[in-house]
Amino acid sequence: MDNKKIPVLAAPLQGVTDNVWRMAQHDVFGGVDAYYAPFMRVERGEVRRKDLRDVDPERNTGITLIPQILACQPDHAMMMVDALKQMGYRRIDINLGCPFPPIALHRKGSGMMAYPELAEALFKALATIDDVQYSVKMRLGWDSNDQWRDILPLMDIIKPVNITIHPRTGKQQYKGELDIEQFEAILATLPWPVIYNGSLRTVQDIENIIQRYPTLAAVMVGSGLAANPGMLAPSATPDDYRRFHDLLVDGYTEQLNGGEAQLVRHLQDIWQTFLPGTSHKLFKAIRKSRTLDQYEAAATAALNDAATAALNDVATALTPCAEDEE
Ligand SMILES: Cc1cc2nc3c(=O)[nH]c(=O)nc-3n(C[C@H](O)[C@H](O)[C@H](O)COP(=O)(O)O)c2cc1C
Repeated sequence: MDNKKIPVLAAPLQGVTDNVWRMAQHDVFGGVDAYYAPFMRVERGEVRRKDLRDVDPERNTGITLIPQILACQPDHAMMMVDALKQMGYRRIDINLGCPFPPIALHRKGSGMMAYPELAEALFKALATIDDVQYSVKMRLGWDSNDQWRDILPLMDIIKPVNITIHPRTGKQQYKGELDIEQFEAILATLPWPVIYNGSLRTVQDIENIIQRYPTLAAVMVGSGLAANPGMLAPSATPDDYRRFHDLLVDGYTEQLNGGEAQLVRHLQDIWQTFLPGTSHKLFKAIRKSRTLDQYEAAATAALNDAATAALNDVATALTPCAEDEE
């Protein structure tokens, strides 16, 4: 990226940006300064093993990884921080943003933003743990766009290194307008470094937001990077998308042990977010494949078709704003 002035962070996307995806994105395209891991959680009294495996430093070599925890109960949060400390992590993100109803309605993620007393208890417990720095990733609120006003003063308990804001409420899920007015109110109020997250799909979008808010500490990119993992690599070639895809196939072949059917289903799921420029016909062929051979044939056709389109997007992103508007 030409005018990069601040770090670009890869957002956590549960089910997408796992260790296989992160390593493939880093090895093939790069451009990301740090990756946030999808949230980990406690289930049946213990930290999910799958979540711990995902952040195992041996599976995340050569990248800066920030693990994220999601909890309502302070003891669950402490259990996860302890486990992460044992793995060597000293920087941990706290999820106050997840809008998924089964989670939010249990007062976790963005759901917690409607209950400042729960956030206070959580932060107080986490603040008792030595040698860890926290950050927070949050929405504007759960069901109202000003609930952040009750949560932000509590941040003083954990003194976060930064706060990522996705300026929507939890109830909005991922739809509806970004509430830039509230984002600006937060930016004017917060004594902590702020990271902007939301609908950054091109390098030009990133440059625009940095220009508009020069005090931002970083920007975070989620679905844009999942759609086009080469978004930050203007010199990428169609072969790079093939290589990226093949690294995913290799990684999931190694990590999933539910046989060919499970592998094919997982690979099909990648295309829910990857290269959305894929034509409907080719996308359908991927969805219909039942064997790895069928999948490979369909994916090859789709890659040939859509990687070029993704590259055109990158090229468009690098043209000046004024030309874009014509
Ligand atoms: C499928 C999916 C999974 C997500 N998983 C997480 C997660 O584990 N932790 C988190 O903080 N946010 C999660 N998010 C929210 C994203 O990190 C990000 O905040 C949101 O997508 C807005 O950014 P974007 O417009 O760049 O995608 C998820 C979003 C999606 C669509």
